[in-house]
Amino acid sequence: MSTENTARPSSSIHGIWTKRWTFILAASGSAIGLGNIWKFPYITGENGGSAFVLIYLACIFAIGIPIMIAETMLGRRGRKSPIETMRDMIAASNASGFWLIIGLMGTLAGILILSYYSVIAGWALGYIPKLASGEFAGVTGASANAIFSGEQGFLSDYKTLIFWHSVFTIVTVYIVGKGIKTGLERAVRFLMPALVLLLLILLVYSAIEGDFAKGAQFLFAFDASKLNWNSALVALGHAFFTLSLGMGSIMAYGAYMPQQDSIAKTITLVAVLDTAIALIAGLVIFPLVFAHGIEPGAGPGLMFISLPLAFGNISGGAIFGTLFFILVSMAAWTSAIALLEPAVCWLIERFKMGRQKAALLLGGIAWVLGLGSVFSFNIWQEYKLMDTFTVFDGLDFLTSNIMLPLGGLFIALFVGWVMKPEVVDAEIDMQNSSLRTAWWFVLRYIAPAAVALVFVLGVYNKFAS
Ligand code: TRP
Repeated sequence: MSTENTARPSSSIHGIWTKRWTFILAASGSAIGLGNIWKFPYITGENGGSAFVLIYLACIFAIGIPIMIAETMLGRRGRKSPIETMRDMIAASNASGFWLIIGLMGTLAGILILSYYSVIAGWALGYIPKLASGEFAGVTGASANAIFSGEQGFLSDYKTLIFWHSVFTIVTVYIVGKGIKTGLERAVRFLMPALVLLLLILLVYSAIEGDFAKGAQFLFAFDASKLNWNSALVALGHAFFTLSLGMGSIMAYGAYMPQQDSIAKTITLVAVLDTAIALIAGLVIFPLVFAHGIEPGAGPGLMFISLPLAFGNISGGAIFGTLFFILVSMAAWTSAIALLEPAVCWLIERFKMGRQKAALLLGGIAWVLGLGSVFSFNIWQEYKLMDTFTVFDGLDFLTSNIMLPLGGLFIALFVGWVMKPEVVDAEIDMQNSSLRTAWWFVLRYIAPAAVALVFVLGVYNKFAS
């Protein structure tokens, strides 16, 4: 079909990645972030450990990777912002305008996630000077807890939280405003290796000083008796969250991917890296948690209590600790950029807005929304919607457990059933292998059915209990 080729841009107006591994770096930069180091351990703790981890792993490999391949494929095929890409894909498939929801809901989810993401990243920033000053030298579990969430603790001081939330947002806006190529390629290149190295150092410490057997057992004993549908939904939502999946981030990055690269191989590599980092973070944190009597279900503060405890009790801990929180903040930045990018691209394409102006406008909106999450941990902590959700909890639930799984479901259905299979096959280029057959099968049947089931039962379980 010759019309097909002319209708198919081979590069994006926003730029193109120079090499295959630049895409790998950028996509892992987006994937690896607070989700791996902060969120995975704390929700694992809240949901009872190993059974949750098992479902999470199943969701990554059986649902996440196949849908991630589909989302990347859409992005590279369309080479525009997620919303405009979806518009083109819908036109090319003569499909209903309903599917635009993939782009619209995703772009909105990005801003909503960014609003609380930068609050948590702000905590990590705020912990840099705390570690550097030696405040944690010789702390116990109880005092590390008090420094974080005590009466006069870090969380109670909302002015400081707002300060760091603002710093994080401003830098994110600045990087996104400068454009994809200059900002990101350089940052990720040394960041990821440094982060992995430091996590490995921590792993050694945790293996020596922590209760490693108990930590490992908590993560990997695969005890199915603790399962319920809501934790399955949390695991599913987190699989999407950690892969940056279901909202257009990966679609936006796919738009910059060179045409000759293999999407399936590249994406699998990114997902494996992302999962490995989360598991290592868990193996660092839980042995410390058990050795020092910290509550595994301590919630969002888990990393901010257990790790300073470790750093406070090793020689050179102030330096390693400072470095660690610097690296976590930087990993959060590469993710935050991916959260903002789809919406910024769209304002540029649709309204011919300047990149900087678009970044500033959207960053400003996310900043204001983020104040609600700041206050969720202090002056508004008693206000709970439906007796359950603070602003932070509500935004997290709405995005991770509702919008991302729905976005993923719609992507699977659209690519699996609505697009022309020959168009999809040409872009995916998996030849005639059995992997290709398996991918189609999962995308069409397994992924939609599994997401729909977990979604319906999980939401029901959450509100029925
Ligand atoms: N994946 C990132 C993390 O684990 C967060 C993130 C970046 C994200 N882009 C996203 C989450 C898009 C959902 C969708 O920290």
